[in-house]
Amino acid sequence: MNIEAKRVADSMAETVHIVRPNHLNGANRLFGGILMQWIDEVAGIVAKRHAMANVITASVDNLRFIKGAYQNEMVVIVGKLTYVGNTSMEVRVETYVENKSGIRKAINSAYFVMVALDENDKPVAVPKLILETKEEKLEWEAAEKRREMRSQRKVEGF
Ligand SMILES: CC(C)(COP(=O)(O)OP(=O)(O)OC[C@H]1O[C@@H](n2cnc3c(N)ncnc32)[C@H](O)[C@@H]1OP(=O)(O)O)[C@@H](O)C(=O)NCCC(=O)NCCS
Repeated sequence: MNIEAKRVADSMAETVHIVRPNHLNGANRLFGGILMQWIDEVAGIVAKRHAMANVITASVDNLRFIKGAYQNEMVVIVGKLTYVGNTSMEVRVETYVENKSGIRKAINSAYFVMVALDENDKPVAVPKLILETKEEKLEWEAAEKRREMRSQRKVEGF
């Protein structure tokens, strides 16, 4: 199926985890490596839904651990596309702890660059992104700046 463009809403993903004893680190908080696995999975789901192809993680930046999460807390992870290049896609992943009243407190934020691959594991073009809201347009503009910084970093090696 060859789809030319898709909306941000078409690929959005949300997952929910309960923090179990086996997810904790020595300080009795959610281990950062477990959370990184969970957010990478969400970024992968979003990118795969958009690309309708296999995807791999090319880079992660602005990964911020804002607050800890503790045993039995409900961790909600929300991923959405911010930008689409030719074969790459940027996914913003926000993580929250949700309390009994449904109120969410941000605990982590990150930007993933995912690349779509064809059946020979070569980067393949993905559908364009339809921006419907002012927020989506602002995200796209910020993503263009991050993309520029990444390519500068690649060239200069900083
Ligand atoms: C990601 C990967 C496919 C890119 O390969 P490459 O030879 O640089 O491919 P290209 O030059 O054709 O780039 C493909 C796209 O990836 C982007 N890209 C490549 N390296 C990148 C990086 N470090 N950060 C962000 N984007 C990157 C390019 O900008 C390009 O995007 P565009 O098509 O939208 O313009 C390759 O580096 C790779 O396979 N990495 C390992 C990924 C992996 O195994 N991840 C799992 C985690 S263990």
